[in-house]
Amino acid sequence: EQQQSAFDALGGEEVLSRLVDTFYQHISSHEEVRHLFPADLTETAAKQKKFLTQFLGGPPLYTETFGHPRLRARHMPFIITPVQAEAWLSCMAHAMDDIGLSGPLREHMMHRFTLTAHHMINHPTPR
Ligand code: HEM
Repeated sequence: EQQQSAFDALGGEEVLSRLVDTFYQHISSHEEVRHLFPADLTETAAKQKKFLTQFLGGPPLYTETFGHPRLRARHMPFIITPVQAEAWLSCMAHAMDDIGLSGPLREHMMHRFTLTAHHMINHPTPR
């Protein structure tokens, strides 16, 4: 028997979509990261929904449209220090609070996001 994906356990497209929209609301008002993002986050959120769908074991929507994620390479244009990584993770934690996600699924997702966020660090903390 196949194990249920995190994507399905979360509630599929509808819940993921709410999580991502809420996440970018936090991003757009976070002092340490908002400067990195475009003012209009519509496209950013649409890409992230596709990416997280496949990251969490759902259909490979991101790769179908954009090819291999090459996430670290795609983040190189932005200066990401441990401060930005922690900011990203805190926006995600707040978004999870907002949609009422708790328990083992939340822990599993945060663990994977933490590993990926740390992998995106491409610059030492200034001073
Ligand atoms: C794109 C910042 C971590 C997934 C981006 C963009 C920025 C950014 C500025 C470009 C947005 C745009 O131009 O539309 C950051 C920062 C992070 C971080 C500061 C802190 C560590 C992550 C993590 C993931 C992720 C942990 C996944 C779990 C993506 C994806 C894209 C993206 C899928 C779209 C790539 C593309 O196709 O261009 N990120 N990110 N990011 N980020 Fe991050």
